[in-house]
Amino acid sequence: MNPETARRFGGEVAEGILDWYGREGRLFPWRRVGEGRDRRGLPLHDPYLILLSEIMLQQTQAARVVEKLPEFLETFPNVERLASASKADLLRAWQGMGYNSRALRLKAAAEIIVNNFNGEFPRDFKQLRSLPGIGRYTASAILCFAFGEQIPVVDVNIARVLSRIFFKCYTPLQRFREDDLYDLDATLIPSGESYRWHQALMDFGAVVCTARSPSCSSCPIKDYCISATFPLGHSLFDVQSIRKEEPSFRGFPRRIWRGRVVELLRGAERGMRVAEVMESLVDSTQPLSELDRRELLAILSRLREDGLVEITGVVREGGLKEFDVVRLPT
Ligand code: ADE
Repeated sequence: MNPETARRFGGEVAEGILDWYGREGRLFPWRRVGEGRDRRGLPLHDPYLILLSEIMLQQTQAARVVEKLPEFLETFPNVERLASASKADLLRAWQGMGYNSRALRLKAAAEIIVNNFNGEFPRDFKQLRSLPGIGRYTASAILCFAFGEQIPVVDVNIARVLSRIFFKCYTPLQRFREDDLYDLDATLIPSGESYRWHQALMDFGAVVCTARSPSCSSCPIKDYCISATFPLGHSLFDVQSIRKEEPSFRGFPRRIWRGRVVELLRGAERGMRVAEVMESLVDSTQPLSELDRRELLAILSRLREDGLVEITGVVREGGLKEFDVVRLPT
């Protein structure tokens, strides 16, 4: 980082981004406030709503979460209802969101909040971090967004924006060490405005300082950004080449196949035979080879290990048999 830039221009950067947010900030259901107020008299956000939305936003587009959240809240209006839900109902309600393991971790976290914390969200970083599915970012987000704590919060968008402004980025996906970014962010939070500051940074990252094609020429803070003079858009080729290769099967990453299995089972109340699942998953004009079968059985086994499906029948040494029955967990 160029500490001099942060010291000299941190205030201007924050003002520029907050002004932009005042004009262009997005309205999201999770930004609606509840009844309570924090120590400074600022309105509080419901921690359950923050937890849900943050977990959903981890790997799902904001537009999809905006659609899904109200429906999800109708089915599971509070942490108690989520904790007592059946896994199958929860996975059905999660339809369209992808990365289904998140739903199960969310339920496990809700169970701990209900059983160990009397249904009250812990306000302690370590206790929040210890909950399933809650890492450094989500714990910080709950403390800041729900409880008004004036602490740094760094997600991928914020990491990208701060890295570009205060460190020198040579490629669009470059960003800096998480610890450095948390330290830097702590020095930038405008007094009493941590919640608004972080919402603003996230929107700024999603709209102006985007991952692949930042709008540097019209950026309201370009005069303070160390990376703005670099042709960020030039290195798209590098972005693609540094993407992680995912293991794939018949041209699709395994996570897509995992999602397809869960989707198939959402519509099968009583479950399906393993063989039936395998045949429904692939194009019937291309019969399954022995290798395909092994690959699909491995995908099913991993789903079972992750608790996303249950498989009944006698599971013999060497794994699954095709007449075993697979269904969503209860
Ligand atoms: N992504 C994660 N949290 C978000 C939030 N609160 N607003 C917009 N995008 C987000």
